[in-house]
Amino acid sequence: MSTVLVLNGPNLGRLGSREPDVYGSANLEDLRELLVASARDGVSIDLRQTDDEAELIHWLYEAVDERTPVILNPAAFTHYSYALRDAAALVTKAGLQLIEVHLSNPHARETFRHTSVVSAIATGVIAGLGFDSYRLALDFVTAS
Ligand code: DQA
Repeated sequence: MSTVLVLNGPNLGRLGSREPDVYGSANLEDLRELLVASARDGVSIDLRQTDDEAELIHWLYEAVDERTPVILNPAAFTHYSYALRDAAALVTKAGLQLIEVHLSNPHARETFRHTSVVSAIATGVIAGLGFDSYRLALDFVTAS
């Protein structure tokens, strides 16, 4: 059984009630169920959320140590956390895939969301497709 870590940053725990016009009305548990249902045979989904930058960084260390691919929605950390970016770089430098995902399309929103400090070290970026951003990332990281 191989595992994919699906890591979610700050305020994503409020999915479902947070700005439903932007993020939809489904919550993280719905996302977990969707990913579990769409995972290939033998792939286990480990979906987590935290509002804590240090915890997110430690989960990225765990990905390196356990050699686990990562689907990462860094949420607002996307736009300014060099600490998170450096930890995410450890994952890709270790030869592991890390896909940055966003529910919304940050480029179609406020100017401060147009910058991602994570994208340059990510394997790839999928944004603006709601839960499909995660589903397509899962398909990609488990393709081979
Ligand atoms: C987000 C976009 C970010 O700009 C925002 O801070 C989030 C969610 C998204 O999934 O669309 O919290 O990462």
